[in-house]
Amino acid sequence: MIDLRSDTTTQPSAGMRSQMASAPVGDDVFGDDPSVNALQQRVASLAGKGSALLLPSGTQSNLVALLAHCQRGEEYLVGQDYHTYLYEAGGAAVFGSIQPQPIPVSTDGSLNLELVRSRIKPDDPHFAMTRLLVLENTHNGKVLGLDYMAHAAEFARRHGLALHLDGARVFNAATELGVDVKEIVRHVDSVSICFSKGLGAPIGSLLCGSGPFIAAAKRWRKMAGGGLRQAGVLAAAIDYALDHHVDRLRSDHAHAKRLAQAMCEIDAITLISSQTNMVFIELPDEDVGVQLGQFLAERGVKVLGGKRMRLVTHLDISAADTETVITLFREYFAS
Ligand SMILES: Cc1ncc(COP(=O)(O)O)c(C=O)c1O
Repeated sequence: MIDLRSDTTTQPSAGMRSQMASAPVGDDVFGDDPSVNALQQRVASLAGKGSALLLPSGTQSNLVALLAHCQRGEEYLVGQDYHTYLYEAGGAAVFGSIQPQPIPVSTDGSLNLELVRSRIKPDDPHFAMTRLLVLENTHNGKVLGLDYMAHAAEFARRHGLALHLDGARVFNAATELGVDVKEIVRHVDSVSICFSKGLGAPIGSLLCGSGPFIAAAKRWRKMAGGGLRQAGVLAAAIDYALDHHVDRLRSDHAHAKRLAQAMCEIDAITLISSQTNMVFIELPDEDVGVQLGQFLAERGVKVLGGKRMRLVTHLDISAADTETVITLFREYFAS
């Protein structure tokens, strides 16, 4: 199969599996796992933060961050299409009694800071207390630039808000910008980084922030059931991803660019956006989307969506796979 649904569909490689099998492990709830401890230090240092914490998923990492930043009855400002608002089952509200204030997301994936300002609640008992701003980089593959990140952080500080970044794909952003991850997250208070997406590990996200913030997050992680025991096998997979799968993100971006160019040459397709490893296209109507999806599936290609379709490149998609997909799209629209 050529699976373009998401970069979460990657298979752990033989090299990764072998590193997992030989990882030294201990009970991480007791803080005894040497592989986890080393990885947490490595990622904290990559992010330029005091500490880092391994969690099973990006959803739990974001949840724990929100719980550590906000108290019951407080509020976080967040893009209304961001994962931390739309796709995490309302966890912050359910587990933390934290109110989200969604903000429309601009076409470049950022939040308009004037609009954000207008949603900050005054200090008045009628309102929840606004505590936190949450950004997402990349959002639908779109990169928030260094200037925007710096402005947003300055804005947050000026208004007494903490700043959390859902950096599930921040390595893709860093690749696109040609900078270290540290540069992108320099001004944020906390960042959640996923390793089970373009970086190809089977499981795992790291939440990075100051020592006291991570200490609070660790308590919430335990409460959420995310305290794992011999988690070094997962740390080893992430270590392997950092050693072998960061530089190659450039190929994913090149394959996405090639797909986007080819989509532009097909009259029936409108290219909505294409940055980093994600291409979004629009088809004439839902029926065409569904039929095209079936046509591709019958020929070994999986895609997500109907009228609006998402194509995501990752380490299991080669240049040859990209050409196969393009040929199939052309074939479908030629008939
Ligand atoms: C931007 C973003 N943040 C967070 C997550 C959550 O990650 P997980 O699936 O590991 O819970 C995802 C998952 O796709 C995501 O795309």
